[in-house]
Amino acid sequence: MSSIIASESRRLEGSIQVPGDKSISHRAVILGAISVGESKILRLLEGEDVLATVAAFRTMGVQMSGPRDGSLKINGVGLNGLTKPASPLDMGNSGTAMRLLAGLLAGQAFPATLTGDASLRQRPMERIMTPLGQMGADLTAADGKPPLAINPVSRLKGISYRLPMASAQVKSSILLAGLYAKGSTEIQESTPTRDHTERMIAGFTGRRWEPGSPIQVKSGLILRGQRITVPGDISSAAFFLVAAVLCPGSDVTLCGIGINPTRAAVLEILNLMGANIEICERRQESGEPLCDLRVRSQGLQGIDVPRGLVANAIDEFPVLAIAAAGADGTTRIREATELRFKESDRINAVVEGLGNLGISAVEYEDGMDIIGGRFRSGTIDSRGDHRIAMAFAVAGCCSNGSVVVNDCQNIATSFPGFVETGCALGMHLVEKL
Ligand code: S3P
Repeated sequence: MSSIIASESRRLEGSIQVPGDKSISHRAVILGAISVGESKILRLLEGEDVLATVAAFRTMGVQMSGPRDGSLKINGVGLNGLTKPASPLDMGNSGTAMRLLAGLLAGQAFPATLTGDASLRQRPMERIMTPLGQMGADLTAADGKPPLAINPVSRLKGISYRLPMASAQVKSSILLAGLYAKGSTEIQESTPTRDHTERMIAGFTGRRWEPGSPIQVKSGLILRGQRITVPGDISSAAFFLVAAVLCPGSDVTLCGIGINPTRAAVLEILNLMGANIEICERRQESGEPLCDLRVRSQGLQGIDVPRGLVANAIDEFPVLAIAAAGADGTTRIREATELRFKESDRINAVVEGLGNLGISAVEYEDGMDIIGGRFRSGTIDSRGDHRIAMAFAVAGCCSNGSVVVNDCQNIATSFPGFVETGCALGMHLVEKL
């Protein structure tokens, strides 16, 4: 799929599921692969990013069957059972796969190289190279960008590290290296980031970990195969939350969505803007909280996004910007510089895209101001960024005309079936090859 034509939609209705959470899916594959015994993962996201992680472990000798209909069986090889890959591991578009695998590979007895597509080869890796280097790892990358070459060292050593930026990928990379390090590895973060790695390591090692307690791994841990059901991805659900809020007369339920508090700030931000999102049927599965989300259309007001919510809604800002554009008044987003280091520079891509649809937006180094208005018809270059593409498809459905979004093939990295799912709710989305 290279383009989507999205046009005025009214009254979205129905009850749907979205694919499994991307962050949790990556971690389930990684921890399943280095555990002792069999793991069974259900509702795994079969998006290209996670499939790149699956392929990497197959290349390193891990036998898996699936994924088929979201189910993946992994024959774990134990902490030291991976084998040397015969060729560079291609992580495609996935920053998470590259950074998490870099930490894991830093502790192996064989060399490996991680590479990726043109977008991933532009993304910064010093953020993991610095702490992994302090642990004694041998990583090289020209200009701090992939390909990333990792050479074996005799033994990593544990460190205590304060994260200089809010990044769960950096935290997780260090924790995975810590599984192979002498002594204890501890991380302090000024802003809590998604804690799926902490929760899942606790599950695989049979220990307790409460949010807010020290983030730490020690040498000598043994991981044992688990059965994991992945919750629906709140980052994917966010596109339909915003579409339903903005399309008059809508009433939509999104079933089985993960609402880990380190991921759910998108709900708080939309509620502060005046949205009407009901949390129903709260439950817990595989160490993660989930629920059904019922959302009805509602007029929104612009807000100053509380800075404390930014890190926990970082992936939702492209679609939150669409909500802001459909709100009355101005929305101000600050302290969100990390948006510049995603699959595209999302501050620049959003401001440019909104401008193409007649919405005034001002770019700042660390964020943007968006002045609410009405979307007019126009064309968007998604820059190959899945979330930019899906966010502007939502904008097209909330316009009085139609929006052509180009370069949409990477939607398959996180949300295969996005168009079909949106159409099932009544969104007017047409794919063009
Ligand atoms: C992710 C962490 C976030 C997020 C990314 C997935 C993860 O990145 O943007 O989509 O799975 O750990 P940072 O940790 O770099 O902010």
